[in-house]
Amino acid sequence: MRPRAGSWAISGTLGNLEEAARRSVDERIWGYIQGGAGGERTLRSNEAAFRRWTVWPELLTGVTSVDLGTSLLGQVVSAPFFVAPTAYHREVNPEGELATAAAAGALGILGVYSTLSSDSLEAIAETTGSGPRWFQLYLQPQFDVSAELVRRAERAGYGAVVVTVDTPVLGSRDRQEESGFALRQAIAVGNGPTVRSPARGPTWDGGPCRLGDAAEVSWKTLNAIGRVSSLPLVVKGVLRPETARRAVDAGARAVIVSNHGGRQLDVAPAALDALPAVVDAVDGRAEVYLDGRVRRGSDAVVALALGARAVGLGRPVLWALAAGGKEGVARYLRLFGTELANSLVLAGRSSVGQVDRGLVRPAPPEPTGASPPSEDRAATAPTRPRHAGRHLPSRRA
Ligand SMILES: Cc1cc2nc3c(=O)[nH]c(=O)nc-3n(C[C@H](O)[C@H](O)[C@H](O)COP(=O)(O)O)c2cc1C
Repeated sequence: MRPRAGSWAISGTLGNLEEAARRSVDERIWGYIQGGAGGERTLRSNEAAFRRWTVWPELLTGVTSVDLGTSLLGQVVSAPFFVAPTAYHREVNPEGELATAAAAGALGILGVYSTLSSDSLEAIAETTGSGPRWFQLYLQPQFDVSAELVRRAERAGYGAVVVTVDTPVLGSRDRQEESGFALRQAIAVGNGPTVRSPARGPTWDGGPCRLGDAAEVSWKTLNAIGRVSSLPLVVKGVLRPETARRAVDAGARAVIVSNHGGRQLDVAPAALDALPAVVDAVDGRAEVYLDGRVRRGSDAVVALALGARAVGLGRPVLWALAAGGKEGVARYLRLFGTELANSLVLAGRSSVGQVDRGLVRPAPPEPTGASPPSEDRAATAPTRPRHAGRHLPSRRA
């Protein structure tokens, strides 16, 4: 579908990106992108958690320059944020992952690309050029299919394999269901017909539930994936400190603290709330990243101060792709980096390495009856789909 809100890529702001995206896609795609699991409490807590922190600027530090550069698993990146893996970019824009990869790669931003990309991992690698890229693996019902994906990623020059472990089955996503989202037949999984999405959750009808052909998501499988290639292993979807510790014992070089953007287990904790204990548990033996509701440069400052080495950006990248294709993603990443740099200078820091725990303190409790998160307002506001009816229900993501 052709996005119409083309002007966002020229003059948009971080503040009006979500609305520009909403005007660019039909209701069903919007429900798919925005939706969380169940009653969406985890989705909301991801934002509430950021509101509980404040950044206390250190003044008169004489900052005259600011450097966002860092390294992730030894790879030089231009900033401590990355494109989090999200499926089927062509659902929001026909330019697909190739547009995202071109924009991120040109800026030296790490892109993590999904097993369920609508373009092949090889095509994405080619478009990224020398830019940093990692491959996200959804474990497959047949281990050989997982193994072959990892080998392909290694051959195509990906720098790490990110195994998502919070998805033994898909969460129950009412908003997606209500919006009638189903993938168009035309949008194939770019990595080939043998590749499967995580299975749908169980259906209960009074007896024990079977999970059909769900993949085995276990320590045993994770260990086996680690042996398939020489790529460093990253474990995504960690919330408990003991999971992080065990992942590192199993050879993970990094963990991503994440609740899948509130799309899996509802009432799981906010990713930001889970971060400090994971950082403590890992105790410098691996890198720790965070994703979930990072929207502003100042959110990134809070996460970095609480111990994340980098933050992942999920929905906003899809919004930018919807609103402006490759130029939209490039503008979004630049704006995000600009705002992060600005926040750092105002906080009295000239580099990412100088962001320490002392920069943040808990915010005083908000008065009860505070306004709901903007994403929820935008998503529940009456929509006027521009392209309603274009997507034929076929199969489910
Ligand atoms: C539409 C959509 C598709 C996603 N697809 C994947 C995926 O294929 N693999 C994966 O590991 N995570 C996936 N995620 C989760 C993201 O990687 C990330 O954890 C989450 O979006 C971060 O929260 P945010 O959207 O609030 O930034 C998806 C998220 C969304 C919104």
